[in-house]
Amino acid sequence: MAHSSPRPQSLPPLHRLLVVGGGGREQALAWALRRCPGVNEVWVTPGNGGTLDLEGCRALGISELDADGLIAHCRDHAIDLVVIGPEAPLAAGVADRLREAGLAVFGPGADGAQLEASKAWAKQLMQEGGIPTAGHWAVSELPEALAVLDRLQRPLVVKADGLAAGKGVTVAETIEATAAAIQEAFAGRFGSAGERLVLEERLQGPEVSVFALCDGERMVLLPPAQDHKRLLEGDRGPNTGGMGAYAPAPLLDAAGLEQVRAQVLTPTLRALRNRGIQYRGVIYAGLMLTATGPQVIEFNCRFGDPECQTLMPLMGPELAQVLQACALGCLDLAPALTITEACSACVVTAAEGYPDAPKKGDVVLLAPDDDPQRQLFHAGTRRDQDGRLLTSGGRVLTQVAQADTFDQAFARAYQALETVDYRGMQYRRDIGHQVRRS
Ligand code: AMP
Ligand code: GLY
Repeated sequence: MAHSSPRPQSLPPLHRLLVVGGGGREQALAWALRRCPGVNEVWVTPGNGGTLDLEGCRALGISELDADGLIAHCRDHAIDLVVIGPEAPLAAGVADRLREAGLAVFGPGADGAQLEASKAWAKQLMQEGGIPTAGHWAVSELPEALAVLDRLQRPLVVKADGLAAGKGVTVAETIEATAAAIQEAFAGRFGSAGERLVLEERLQGPEVSVFALCDGERMVLLPPAQDHKRLLEGDRGPNTGGMGAYAPAPLLDAAGLEQVRAQVLTPTLRALRNRGIQYRGVIYAGLMLTATGPQVIEFNCRFGDPECQTLMPLMGPELAQVLQACALGCLDLAPALTITEACSACVVTAAEGYPDAPKKGDVVLLAPDDDPQRQLFHAGTRRDQDGRLLTSGGRVLTQVAQADTFDQAFARAYQALETVDYRGMQYRRDIGHQVRRS
């Protein structure tokens, strides 16, 4: 049974935070939360090679799945709010454990995290809530899946039901390719994540990410963001976790965002409540803007990475209190979140071999940067015993910059990347091509 503490009369003091996770997303969250007035200490666990470079941030060696370790730390250090970044601890119920221990946690429990952890569950919820999404068939046996394909006689999108680190989706071009993807999934390509599949109708249109900060009943929407999933310029090559982003994405204007609120996010939160789920965290709606309106491609139970890095510099000083109010179920008590009106650009640098087999252990050289409209968020980095910065993951750094126009923002981000170096560094030069003229 989900633990739910009584609603406070006003927001409690908020000085010390813990951000759980070690990617660029968590680095950006820690940076943005530390900037909020009154917040004087932000712990990050496990963090990365850049955590200690953030003023007022401290690193901790506790695993993101170690609920007991996290609870003990929060008690010892009087942590006022825990923000959980990645999906794995959320799906594993770490937020539930921390809430049961009396902590304020931004991040859904294992029940709500099924929005991301089970595509079949999310599809069912969308059906119940009348939320626009592609037609689908949930299947758990090979003959059943092939029978659906045989009946429909058209290519389908094949999705592993469970968490597959963003790699469990095949957008098949032909019936034969659909059948091959189904066979591979049932042969174990995605491990247990592929024991059940969701087959989906293929939709057409540009994609955009929308984030709703939720307190279980109410929500605040962030500006829409545009991700770039493919590894190579021209949107070619394999899918990745995301090679760059920008916000606000003009694809969705204020009216479009309100349509997404009315047709997607409000009904989703209602459908969650109808199942008895108090969703206190961010709902990430991956949308396709089709000829007949926005449709949900996927839900995630966390911020997007690198969308989060792009968005955080636009967040006003109320961010920490807004997340706290979401955690406590009282968003109506929080100050309104101000959003800076600027264009924010983000470029990811990846390691050689990413996404299949990223190489690790190369020395990363960085130049100091004092441009206040530029942020370098570390992701797959670590420090060795001598304090040298080394690559330690697929996506190594995210360079973010803001300006009045996207042309200027991207120029600023790319200029900074000229001072970054490590062996095999790769990044796309065309991030933001949709909104750039130069
Ligand atoms: P997902 O992991 O569900 O976001 O899917 C990865 C990518 O596959 C998405 O970003 C889309 O580009 C594509 N995709 C997923 N579902 C569909 C669909 N129903 N129609 C067309 N493309 C899709
Ligand atoms: N950037 C896509 C994701 O975080 O899933």
